[in-house]
This record gives sequence, C-alpha cells and structure tokens, in this order.
Amino acid sequence: MPATARSDDQHELSRRIAALGPWFHNIDLNGTPTAPDHFLGNYPADKFARFAQIFPADLTGKSVLDIGCNAGFYSVEALRRGAARVVGIDSDDRYLAQAALATEALGFTGVEFRNLSVYNVATLGERFDVVIFMGVLYHLRHPLLALDLIREHVAGEAMLFQTLQQGSQQVDDVPADHPFFEPGTYRQPAYFDAPGYPKMHFIEQKFAGDWTNWWAPNAAASQAMLRAAGFTVEAQADGDVYLCRVAPVPFGQYGPAAVYPATGVNS
Ligand SMILES: C[S@@+](CC[C@H](N)C(=O)[O-])C[C@H]1O[C@@H](n2cnc3c(N)ncnc32)[C@H](O)[C@@H]1O
Repeated sequence: MPATARSDDQHELSRRIAALGPWFHNIDLNGTPTAPDHFLGNYPADKFARFAQIFPADLTGKSVLDIGCNAGFYSVEALRRGAARVVGIDSDDRYLAQAALATEALGFTGVEFRNLSVYNVATLGERFDVVIFMGVLYHLRHPLLALDLIREHVAGEAMLFQTLQQGSQQVDDVPADHPFFEPGTYRQPAYFDAPGYPKMHFIEQKFAGDWTNWWAPNAAASQAMLRAAGFTVEAQADGDVYLCRVAPVPFGQYGPAAVYPATGVNS
C-alpha cells in the first residue's frame, strides 16, 4: 500500500479511536494505541504479562466467552491463541463499540460482541470451553450470584478469573463445620479474626474514587467463593488471577445454587 494511503488509514483509525474514547484498555491497533496515557500504564498488557503463563497457550478450536469484555483485550488474546469462536459480553455499549473497532482493525473474524449482563448469561443457551471473568466481580452488587449463574449456565471447562482483592494473601484451610463456641467455652471461635480466613470486605462508599466498586475479598475469600460456586483453582498468578476448572457444586444435591434467573426468559 502506498505511504499516503497508509497514513490516511492511520488517520481515520485515530479519529475512530478518539470518537469512542476514553478507553480503559490500551490495545495496540497496528501501531496506534487506544489509551497511550492510561493511569495504570500499558494496561492491561502489563498485567497480562504477569499472569500469561496460566492463560491457556493454545485455544485452537475452542469457544470462549469473555464476560465484561470491555474493549476486548482478552478476547483478542483468545483469538491470537486460535480460539474458533469468541463471544464478548458487556453492559456498556461504548465499550462494546471499542471492542468491535479493535477486532476489526486487527483483522479478526469469528468474534461477536453483545450487550448482555453477567446476570443474564443463561440467555446465551450454551456452554463455552473457556470463560474469561476478569475484573467484574467486585463491581457487582451480587457477586456470588454471578459466579453461580456462570457455573450453572455457561462454564464448560475452564474459567480465567480476576478480582480486586484487599487484605491478607494468607489462605487458611476452612473448617468443615463452625461450632458456635470454642469447645468447652462460651467464646466465639478465633478463626473468624485470622488473616487467612475468607473475608469479603464490603465497600459502602467509593473505592479509588469509583462508586461501582462494592466488594474486595481477601485471597482466601476469592478462592472460597470460587469453590463454593463449583470451581477448583488450578493455578494462581499475580496475586489475584485464578485459572479455574469446573467441578461439582458443593451441596449441589440440595438443588441449584443460582436462584435467579434460571433461563433468562420471563416465566
Ligand atoms: C474493570 S472492567 C474489566 C474489563 C476487563 N474484563 C479487564 O479485566 O480488563 C469491568 C467491565 O465489566 C463491565 N461490567 C460491569 N457490570 C457488568 C455486568 N453486570 N455484566 C457485564 N459486564 C459488566 C464494565 O462495563 C466493564 O467493561
């Protein structure tokens, strides 16, 4: 392509990037970055570099659901690894438009972006080999419900998961049962105050200036919630990223964990 045509194309791409800004994902679109002045640096590429070793290197032929896909950074990484089909969902149309532009500019096909809340994943009506659920849980007012719905309706084999975490990185074994009192006393068991006990910190006001941050589990709570929803943690990287596998839902014999909505269809 002649140099002038290329520079016209770059100019038009820069115009389209700016029209959809601001971007939370800095994605290199053939030499044009979408968020070069990101407050977290080269984000999320720098973050990805710290946990890429637990992201499946080969996704040839796999289906991938990217929940809370934003501008599609992780959808693109799945496509680069050979995923046959990627569906990205998000509740924000502007982010979805960014994702569509990013994948178009990079020349990817086999990808679909839809406005759909994690609470409505049942309407997708299929399971995906890999679910990506990064950076969304703590924005939700009902985080365990979201994990339950993912497990019940869309998780096929693996899930890549990340959440904001606060507090201790220590992870204690959880007791099989919790007596009211320490045996032979009227004292409450001490383990609730142990740093490695699962704790979900509720953020009533803003966190980092953002009122949509509602929860900050410690590492033990992230792992406990994943287990409770029916995932085993296979690997952890960069402190808050987990590669999980679908497992039996604890106490699943007593009925489905997710109580809303079973099908996504009003009934
Ligand atoms: C912090 S960003 C994380 C983006 C990306 N997954 C990542 O890890 O870089 C949170 C994303 O979740 C989306 N989101 C928030 N609530 C959602 C919901 N109920 N269902 C689907 N997406 C949601 C936001 O629009 C935003 O794109």
